[in-house]
Amino acid sequence: MPLTIPAGSIALVGMPGCGKSTVGRHLARLLGWRFIDSDHEIERQIGGSVRAYFEQHGEAAFRELEQQTLTTLCQHTQTVLATGGGAVLRQANRQALKSGCEVVYLRSKPEELFRRLRHDTQRPLLQVKDPLRRLRDLFRERDPLYRDAAHFVIETGRPSVPTLVNMILMQLELAGVIDPAQVPSTVGRVLPPQA
Ligand code: S3P
Repeated sequence: MPLTIPAGSIALVGMPGCGKSTVGRHLARLLGWRFIDSDHEIERQIGGSVRAYFEQHGEAAFRELEQQTLTTLCQHTQTVLATGGGAVLRQANRQALKSGCEVVYLRSKPEELFRRLRHDTQRPLLQVKDPLRRLRDLFRERDPLYRDAAHFVIETGRPSVPTLVNMILMQLELAGVIDPAQVPSTVGRVLPPQA
């Protein structure tokens, strides 16, 4: 049973470690849609890891690949797309995301991200002496860009994944983007806490 999302897809944007992939996978399962992680799509194309690609070819080459991949993925329908944390850096990507998808920004504070990512070894931009400082710098630079790309902003804090998924669905329902009657498994969902 098709949902009434005119743009046909939902894209999640936000800082590394904000939960785009985990939340996206759950959301897609609930909607009966396909889930795509743009970094995994890039890794499939290059036959290796994003981290190794950064080391061998540099960030600029990665951003080119990322733009090509996003341009294609934004044209999909009935897809939940988890983007890489730097997907919003290019204006062309922000535009492609916003015109092709309903874009949800999962907004987490650098301190919260650090708590989750302090042992991470896979994210090339965080392999530095002071990852918290790097996260703060990235957040300062990117928060306005995520907001620019997004139709909806969800403050993640520390809620569970199902709660975040419910919060996203509720935003989409309130905006008239999806019809609650068409999401059967969300009947009786827990309401998010009052702001
Ligand atoms: C990046 C985030 C990564 C990945 C690449 C660059 C960034 O994705 O695309 O390492 O610039 O923040 P996640 O947000 O899934 O970690």
